[in-house]
This record gives sequence, C-alpha cells and structure tokens, in this order.
Amino acid sequence: MSLKEDPTFNIYSERSSFKWIVLAISVVISASSIVYTSQLVQKIRARESKQIALYAKTLEYLSHEEELPNAVFILEEIVDANNTIPVIVANEYGEPDFYKNIPKADGISDPAKRKEFLLNEIQEMRDQHEPILVTLADQGQILGYLTIYYKNSQLLAQLKYYPYIQLSVIAIFGLIVFAVFNYSRTAEQNRVWVGMAKETAHQLGTPLSSLLAWTEYFKEQFPDHRDVFLELEKDVDRLEMITERFSNIGSVPQLREENVPDVVTEVVKYLQKRISRKVSIEIETFPSDDILGALNRSLFAWVIENIIKNAVDAMGGVGSIHVKIMKVSEGMVSIDISDTGKGIAKNRIKQVFEPGFTTKKRGWGLGLTLTKRIVENYHGGKIFVKSSEVDKGTTFRILLKT
Ligand SMILES: Nc1ncnc2c1ncn2[C@@H]1O[C@H](COP(=O)(O)OP(=O)(O)OP(=O)(O)O)[C@@H](O)[C@H]1O
Ligand SMILES: [Mg+2]
Repeated sequence: MSLKEDPTFNIYSERSSFKWIVLAISVVISASSIVYTSQLVQKIRARESKQIALYAKTLEYLSHEEELPNAVFILEEIVDANNTIPVIVANEYGEPDFYKNIPKADGISDPAKRKEFLLNEIQEMRDQHEPILVTLADQGQILGYLTIYYKNSQLLAQLKYYPYIQLSVIAIFGLIVFAVFNYSRTAEQNRVWVGMAKETAHQLGTPLSSLLAWTEYFKEQFPDHRDVFLELEKDVDRLEMITERFSNIGSVPQLREENVPDVVTEVVKYLQKRISRKVSIEIETFPSDDILGALNRSLFAWVIENIIKNAVDAMGGVGSIHVKIMKVSEGMVSIDISDTGKGIAKNRIKQVFEPGFTTKKRGWGLGLTLTKRIVENYHGGKIFVKSSEVDKGTTFRILLKT
C-alpha cells in the first residue's frame, strides 16, 4: 500500500471538516448558554417584581390598620428583609422619602446632593420597571400616596452579562491554546525537516567522497575510457549538489547578492536536457538582464527546479513554460513561472503547498512544501499561485528581496 492510499496520510480533508465540527459545537454551546442565562434572568426578574409588589400590598394594608405607626418606618422594617433589590419610596410630591440597597447614596453625606442623586436614580428605575403606586388610606379616608421605584438587583445585572464574560474568557483561553499548539506543531515540523536534511547530507557525504576518489583513480588507470568516467563524474557532481542542498536545508543558509536570471538560466539549461523536447522554456527579464536578488544559489536552484518539474508534469510533456523575472519595486524581485498545463482546480489551490498533497501516481507531495519553506523561511520571500485555470495553465509567483 502506498502512502497515498493510507487513509491516515490524507489528513487535510479531515482536518477541515474537523474544524467545522468544532465550530458548530462551540456555536451550540454559546447559544444554549446565552438562552439558559436569559431564561434565568427572566425568572429572577419576575420574582423581584413580585417581591416589590408584595411590599406595596403590605404597605397599603398597613395603612388601613388602626394605630398606624409611621408607614415609612414599617416599610423600612419589611424592606429590611430585602437586601438585594434597590428601592426608593417617594412621597406624593415625588421626593424620595426612603431608599434601600443603594450603597452609592449612603456614601453621599450632603442631603441636597443625595436627594439629587436619588432623583436621578428614580429616572433610571422608571426605565427598568413600572413604579408601584400605593394609596395610604384609613377607613376610607385617603391619607396620602407613595410611589415605590425599584430596579434589578446587582445579582440580576451581573447575570445578564455573565454569559458574555464567560464566553469571552473561554474564547481567549481557546485562542491561546490554539496558538501554543500551532506554535509547537510548527516547531516540531521544523525540527523534523532540519533533522532529516542534516542526516541525509551527513549519510550521503561518506560514500560520495569515496565515489569521487574512485572516479579520479579510474580516470587515470583507464585513459581509453575517459568519456565514461567524465559522465560518471557528472553524476557525482549532481550527487554533490544534492548533498549541498540538504546540508543547506539543515543549517542557516548564506544568502548572497546574485543575478537572478543567471541562476534561473543555469537551472533551465540543466533541465532542458532532461525533459521532453516538446516542452519549450523561455526566460524573459524586465527591465534588464541584471536583476539582483539575495539568495542561496543551491537552494534557490532547487526551488526553480521543483516548479518547472511540476509544470512539465502538468503539461504531460507537451507545451511551453514562460519564466518572467521582473524588478517590481525597489528591493523586490518577482519571478513568474507560467505553464500551459492542466491547471489547478480552485478548491485545491490552497492545498498544493501542504505536505502530502499530490495528484500524481508517483508523487510525494513534498516538492512545493519544500519550495515554500526555502522561499519563505530561508529567503524571507513569498510564493503563491498567482493564477490558474483548469486546462489552460498555471502561474506561480515568487517574490524575493534584493
Ligand atoms: N504547475 C502545476 N500545474 C498543475 N498542478 C500543479 C502544478 N504544480 C503543482 N501542482 C499540483 O500540486 C500538487 C503538489 O505538488 P508538489 O510538487 O508538492 O508534489 P508532487 O509534484 O505531486 O510530488 P513531488 O513530491 O514528487 O514533487 C501536484 O501533485 C499537482 O497536483
Ligand atoms: Mg513536484
């Protein structure tokens, strides 16, 4: 079974549906938490209104009683049982006679100022709840009127905002966990890449130097077969270049000012001999042939090689590839590589850079992942699919600093 048939390897499509499931669950949790709390708020609000209505009733009843003690005093006694709902009792002139559970008013010592504060408070209470009018009467004789104003208890006020606070805290916590998780995953990926590359370069090194020595030896021993050994030497050189690439991936590569068209031309020359003759590759430079960019020659050659190889694959070996190198602005070079191949479907464009994504029988889906790493991590540049149309072709764009 190849890696691609292995269901555990195809993590990308699963990961995106997983994201939606997590999102759906969080929406359901948030919505139900808000609905539940708002029901709770409704219930408590109704209970508080009932409580105040009961005070009013008691007050009214007391006023019918013989030997009516000071009504306000009694109210105070009753309302004492309530130590949560802020209440103000005003007389028939609208002046506050008595208040309860308004700690701010307690803090104001000047009576005039306190009265002003309470009058403001009455306005606010009126917006929240309909005030209750109490008629004080004794044996059919009206003694006076009182108005009871009240507002939501602090508990209720807090409860109203509670789900939002709770959800924000959970969201912040979730974001932090996600960031840490993401960071550690990236760090782990980096370690794997760097470690694998270093190890590969290291392992290739020993047989390579021995191969090199052997070809030298045979070249001298068998001068008649020099041609063969020259060919062999070319392959050894290529192996050496591959080792250098891996060793560069495994360390912090040196960037140098290089002429970008030169590097690209070199790669194209090398590839042209090895790909189908029905593929033409042309290079265009703008505004001139001299376009400098800060790059690591061996790694950057790898980038161009990967993209051109993909282009050749996409065209099935027949078509044309156009490389356009431009100085787009001060300090910025762009390299556009266009092909006339089968293109990439819109919904796949995002995936082409992900490790393991391939549509080829013999592909590993690592070419573009590596390419992106080299361009972005090692050169501080950018690479993306500039445009692609199914059955028409694709353009990849690389942006490099100079
Ligand atoms: N120029 C292109 N035109 C159309 N599709 C492309 C092009 N370049 C890349 N792709 C798509 O992106 C996929 C991933 O490319 P990538 O180079 O990462 O892997 P690969 O070529 O499949 O395998 P390998 O690891 O051998 O390079 C390809 O399989 C192909 O479907
Ligand atoms: Mg490839």
